[in-house]
Amino acid sequence: MTDTAPATDAHVEHFEPLDPELPNGYWEYSDGLRANRPVVRSDGHWSTEDTGFWLLSRHDDVYHAAADWQTYSSANGATPVQFPVEMFRMIPLEVDPPLHRHVRRLLNPFFTPEAVAAAEQAAGGIADALLDECVAQAECDFVGGFANLLPAQVFFRYFLDAADDQSRIPWVVQTILTMFEFPDKALEVAPGLFAWYTELLAGRREAGRQTDLIGVIAHAGLDESADGFVMDDKQRLETLNMVVLAGMETTSAGLGNIAHHLATDQKLRASLRGANDDVLARAVDEFLRHDPPVPLAGRTLTKDVELRGCPMRTGDRIMLNWAGASRDPEVFPRPDELDFSRPNVAKHSSFGAGVHRCMGNHLARRELKAAIRAIAELSTFELVEGAQVNWRAAFARGPHTLPVRIAR
Ligand code: HEM
Repeated sequence: MTDTAPATDAHVEHFEPLDPELPNGYWEYSDGLRANRPVVRSDGHWSTEDTGFWLLSRHDDVYHAAADWQTYSSANGATPVQFPVEMFRMIPLEVDPPLHRHVRRLLNPFFTPEAVAAAEQAAGGIADALLDECVAQAECDFVGGFANLLPAQVFFRYFLDAADDQSRIPWVVQTILTMFEFPDKALEVAPGLFAWYTELLAGRREAGRQTDLIGVIAHAGLDESADGFVMDDKQRLETLNMVVLAGMETTSAGLGNIAHHLATDQKLRASLRGANDDVLARAVDEFLRHDPPVPLAGRTLTKDVELRGCPMRTGDRIMLNWAGASRDPEVFPRPDELDFSRPNVAKHSSFGAGVHRCMGNHLARRELKAAIRAIAELSTFELVEGAQVNWRAAFARGPHTLPVRIAR
């Protein structure tokens, strides 16, 4: 076990990103830090082995750090509690330019607003079918029956084809949830996932398919003269892994958080019934600002930096508090209120910032919009009386379960 730097501040927080108690009381804690200790040393874990990091909680500090990838590097990992990157890293998230730039250039075309335009309709159809199944039960767990399934079904429908075996969805969802909530179990479950990726990539190469998303990854960096860079088999697997993982747990958590608002505030739900595209788009951004599904990110310093009087050293681990930034009253007045008419409604940090800003944000926004539209139409959608909702301590923060009464 290592501690990356001695605490120079007399005060040391005990902030554990995976503390099961943290997500329930997140706001009180995070607001207190942002106000009183915007940069603070924590003796909590940033991997299963390592402790000691700096936590940045103000909007300006978090944005500045995210924009300066040369100083705040992602090459030693970007998750709050880190898997060993030498074993596998997520690409492009956990690499710096120039490799980062090359990979984004290849993948971006699949995630532009135009490229994902049709996803909203597809997501709407999937949302309706999932709601039918929930309605048939009258009472259901909306996380297990809807939020966890919609992003996976959209991804399979959109980027894979029938031959890629849709029946794997429940297994993929469960494996991903396990990996992010219990990093110590990641090594048990990841090999199955990677065997599937290997099959997918080999299939595209055998068939000479180079134009769909999986085919592009299967051929990325194989031929330097074509792409301008080289990647090995492991890096191609790591890229596919990122593309599969990134959009599922995050969007599921976002859906769970939004559904919680809609199931507990009927006036709010009614206000979104029949709403036009612009209102729904604003609602999506404001829900994401209010409850960021990805609260934290990791970075590593490549040089000494003094920030708000704190002497941070080369090699120190840094934690960016996206969630703290999204509720910074300097940027978002009355930050704890949901207000779809905020002039800067899309300026939140829930999709990150800088070169690593979320590649799938347009897809995620469309999935969330379709889901809100469908939920707003239901005649009944309410939290079961007396149900206790707890939030997951994981890479993504969303409810564990959401028991709802539901009717068309
Ligand atoms: C509501 C849903 C989502 C949220 C809240 C979210 C959030 C984020 C955040 C905060 C980052 C930046 C992390 C960092 O800088 O350390 C990120 C990066 C990323 N996201 Fe998303 N994401 C969502 C959905 C998606 C979807 C649907 C995809 C599609 C596959 C996706 C793909 C990615 C990728 C590939 C990156 C890495 C980008 C890079 O390193 O250049 N995300 N996301």
